[in-house]
Amino acid sequence: MDDDVPDLERIASGIPGLDDLMEGGFPLNFIILVAGSSGTGKTTLCIQYLVEGLKHGEKALYIGLGESSNVMKKAMLRYGIDLEKLAENDRLVFADIPALNLEEISQLIDRMGPDVKRLVIDPISALLFKFDRDIDLRQKIRELTESIRDKGVTTLITTEIPENSELISRFGIEDFLADGIVVMYYFREGARRFRGIEVRKMRGTAHSDLVHLYKLEPDVGVRVYPNEKAIPE
Ligand SMILES: Nc1ncnc2c1ncn2[C@@H]1O[C@H](COP(=O)(O)OP(=O)(O)OP(=O)(O)O)[C@@H](O)[C@H]1O
Ligand SMILES: [Mg+2]
Repeated sequence: MDDDVPDLERIASGIPGLDDLMEGGFPLNFIILVAGSSGTGKTTLCIQYLVEGLKHGEKALYIGLGESSNVMKKAMLRYGIDLEKLAENDRLVFADIPALNLEEISQLIDRMGPDVKRLVIDPISALLFKFDRDIDLRQKIRELTESIRDKGVTTLITTEIPENSELISRFGIEDFLADGIVVMYYFREGARRFRGIEVRKMRGTAHSDLVHLYKLEPDVGVRVYPNEKAIPE
């Protein structure tokens, strides 16, 4: 690599093992798509990511478009993450948008202060389903990502993809706006399931090109095994 080219500044993802797959972390201010089929652990991974920022004194915003954050908060307690407590001093803010009002989401992003360093939108596919027939969808999503880019915040956006598909986005529009893509899989071979995670794209980064094993572990959440493949050979 050319020594004159400065490396991208990176932040710790907060997911044990994941940073080893991508030169030490997510590049600062990137918009990263986290794609995966139902129940792979996308939300868990995103929460771990936000909590990591809190540890470093950052503020964080979670925009929930799917399940209510109350259900999610209970699930996170199983991993030793007490979101009620973490949200007490407003360093972590949860915004549920059950009506999937795009205007409301834009306003939240516009009003985000400069001290918010980590943002999650989970899952964008909910929004895309709602506006499926809207011909301006591409433009709307572009506007949304542009307003995020103006903010100097590192963002994870989740999207749900069908199981066993090679598709990395549900609507074929989420991926082109992303600087990076992480895919979570839940493969089945016979009666066995395997969980796998892959850094599918990360601009400016020499990332692993393997699908690595991950597990959902007590007191942790998602843990990636950088030295193990998802399916043993
Ligand atoms: N205590 C636990 N220990 C281990 N695994 C768990 C535990 N609780 C939930 N899981 C696993 O985590 C999955 C849910 O994780 P999560 O909600 O983060 O996934 P998701 O990809 O966001 O799901 P969705 O598609 O519903 O949004 C469950 O389907 C289950 O497989
Ligand atoms: Mg989820």
